[in-house]
Amino acid sequence: MPIEMDQLVALCKRRGFLFQSSEIYGGLNGFWDYGPMGVELKRNVREAWWRDMVTSHNEMVVPLGAPSTYEMVGLDCTIIMHPQVWKCSGHYDLFHDFLVDCRESKGRYRYDQVYGRWVEGRGQRFFVATQDPSSAGEEAMRHQALKFLGLRAKDADELQWQGPMVCLTTIDDFSKVLGPDAKTLGTLTEPREFNLMFETHTGAIRNETSKTFLRPETAQGMFVNFKNVLDSTRVKIPFGIAQMGKSFRNEITPRNFTFRSREFEQMEIEFFCRPETSADWYKYWRDRRFQWYLNLGLSPERLRLRDHDPEELSHYSTGTADIEYAFPFMAAGEFGELEGVAHRGDFDLRSHMEGKLDPKSRPLEVEKDEHGQPRYRGSGRDLSYFDEQTKERYLPHVIEPSAGADRATLAFLCEAYCEDEAPDENGKPTKRTVMRFHPRLAPYKAAVFPLVRKDGMPEVAQEIYGALKPRMNVFYDEKSAVGRRYRRQDEIGTPFCITVDGQTLADGTVTIRDRDTLRQWRVHKSECVAEIERLVSGQ
Ligand code: GAP
Repeated sequence: MPIEMDQLVALCKRRGFLFQSSEIYGGLNGFWDYGPMGVELKRNVREAWWRDMVTSHNEMVVPLGAPSTYEMVGLDCTIIMHPQVWKCSGHYDLFHDFLVDCRESKGRYRYDQVYGRWVEGRGQRFFVATQDPSSAGEEAMRHQALKFLGLRAKDADELQWQGPMVCLTTIDDFSKVLGPDAKTLGTLTEPREFNLMFETHTGAIRNETSKTFLRPETAQGMFVNFKNVLDSTRVKIPFGIAQMGKSFRNEITPRNFTFRSREFEQMEIEFFCRPETSADWYKYWRDRRFQWYLNLGLSPERLRLRDHDPEELSHYSTGTADIEYAFPFMAAGEFGELEGVAHRGDFDLRSHMEGKLDPKSRPLEVEKDEHGQPRYRGSGRDLSYFDEQTKERYLPHVIEPSAGADRATLAFLCEAYCEDEAPDENGKPTKRTVMRFHPRLAPYKAAVFPLVRKDGMPEVAQEIYGALKPRMNVFYDEKSAVGRRYRRQDEIGTPFCITVDGQTLADGTVTIRDRDTLRQWRVHKSECVAEIERLVSGQ
């Protein structure tokens, strides 16, 4: 059943998954805080990624679908790096979106995210623009068009809509465009470039030379440390460097909950390989990363792998596939990017070595900055790789699986949200909201309840809680009716509840309840820890 985004957003606030940043001051657009449940969920997403990609990777075994064995190591780089990094990476010049401003409403929109339709009425033909191409957006457009023509709702059949919804980028002349929040025509400005990097200054003096940037991706830290990793470890190509951490982009229109934020976390791998093997590694990583989301519970109907069209490719990429998810806030049939798997060739290493800007090796060293220094000068360091066995020296090619921790967390939240019926304490079926997280991702793995707060039940429950606590995150609750306690755990996605009841005192057994199937069974309290560990690990 499709979920309503409003309900998920409300649950996230009510149960402590996500809060608007600085909410008491009215919030800050594009920034989100993770509450007590959210922080556990996101940490579990990150830990699953790190464990599956890095620490549990066995470099002695060829993984299914891989061309050979390979090694993986990790890195944790700074958010602020030398400004030259961003000049050589291309972000300084090319990391921009186009925006249009509305002179009337003062609204600011991303050019490629404004849509609209042509309409004719009362002898006028104009283009009604919206940021929301869904059916709700179409409804708002109808209202706006009627208002513009001074008509009422009952006159809607006077409007003749022409052609399908199209992007503003297909419109040449804005004089007949009614902006998304405008009352008159022709208020949108011509599109202009807007660099997405946040600027700051390092040191006491604030001038052009002290200007630095908050990293817009974690990737560059891995390229500029390529030689350090080679020299400090014994890794040999093929190998990958993994890093997760905050990235910052001054998005023009942050929206759709955490989907497009201005501060977010990435989980990126730069995988270095011999150029002639890169196509095979690219295919391996596409499939491997796609499968990772399926293994953690995203449904195959809502997940897809899509190859980029050539014109969609980033400035560095010679091939990219997106892993996409049908988020509930997208129009029917639309998907949103969860992760990009890019074939970056040798672009980044070459740029940081030689100062070239794009894969066509366009030399830009001739361009000078305000101090007369070559702007795109690389580090001048030799970032090539020497193969001891073949005695060859070459620049490795790179495959980059680049995921967003917040987007993945949002997809897991959307996938988990479910409303169904479950019997209440009187056995009567009642509506419940349940978050069906994969046990690896669930904030709490289990909850322990004494049925009542007497007869020695709390003592037994606390003993079980104490035995589980060092092994996993568990919750203890003895307040209110047990049926309500189950419902509370369902809403935060706790997969198993353990209840100590009258029978426990007689034969030492406790009840375990499965969140999804609602099945209940008894195990001896001494086997409880092993049983929960087995269930959580999916065995
Ligand atoms: N190093 C390559 C790179 O950064 P990207 O497609 O721009 O590629 C990778 O970003 C991933 O980072 C995206 O697939 C998405 O999951 C996440 N991401 C990018 N921009 C984001 C934003 N504004 N808010 C949340 N996540 C974002």
